[in-house]
Amino acid sequence: MRKPFVAGNWKMHGSKASILNLVTGLNSMAGELDGVDVAVCPPSLYIDFTKRTLSTPAIVIGAQNMAEEPYQGAFTGEGSAVMLKDLGCDYVILGHSERRAIYGETDSEIANKVQVALKSGITPILCVGETLDERESGVMESVISAQLDAVLDVVGIAAFNFVVIAYEPVWAIGTGVTASPAQAQEVHAFIRGKLAKLDASVAEKVVIQYGGSVKPGNAKELFGQPDIDGGLIGGASLDADDFIAICKAAGV
Ligand code: PGA
Repeated sequence: MRKPFVAGNWKMHGSKASILNLVTGLNSMAGELDGVDVAVCPPSLYIDFTKRTLSTPAIVIGAQNMAEEPYQGAFTGEGSAVMLKDLGCDYVILGHSERRAIYGETDSEIANKVQVALKSGITPILCVGETLDERESGVMESVISAQLDAVLDVVGIAAFNFVVIAYEPVWAIGTGVTASPAQAQEVHAFIRGKLAKLDASVAEKVVIQYGGSVKPGNAKELFGQPDIDGGLIGGASLDADDFIAICKAAGV
């Protein structure tokens, strides 16, 4: 049985004041969480502040990105896996479509980062997903396959015992347009099926989150699909009530 996992991707949002307010809300409702793993991923500048403000073991911390260099060095503006570990991060989101589209991150850089995260003891949340053009032109499965293959080639299938996958259709991110539960399930089943061809037991265990305009009102139906194991939540994770409601929809 896979334990559902919900992560909040705060993207580049927040201030000390707003995070204090958000985390105070999360702390007060954390006791309602049951049967679900939960993480929040603040901007890296606020990871330490968020970690210190969280007063519950029910919610852990992740980062939104990290450097390919695992330790330290002359990489102005970057932050490494070892630094994230030092700050107490358990997870790191890698290959988010905004990183791919805005910062030109390639499949191969993302694969290297996944390897570095794994070696550093941080669980990567590997994001994959197609654009609307790709979906409409019928190449959705080959795009997602290529994104997964790039990582599989570097780390191998056994490493996926320690990887979380987030399927995020680019057209559903921040748009208010959600993939229907059936559309999302179809892709989740495709991803699990692809991994099953390499190792059935890894595929059975790997957590595959759905991301893209998840809200309290649509979470239950999405998470009720057999291959959807929770979500990666953007906008709705900035509101404590909404985020906890989504986490509860994934739990028991
Ligand atoms: P959204 O973002 O929930 O605001 O659509 C999801 C994500 O980008 O991870």
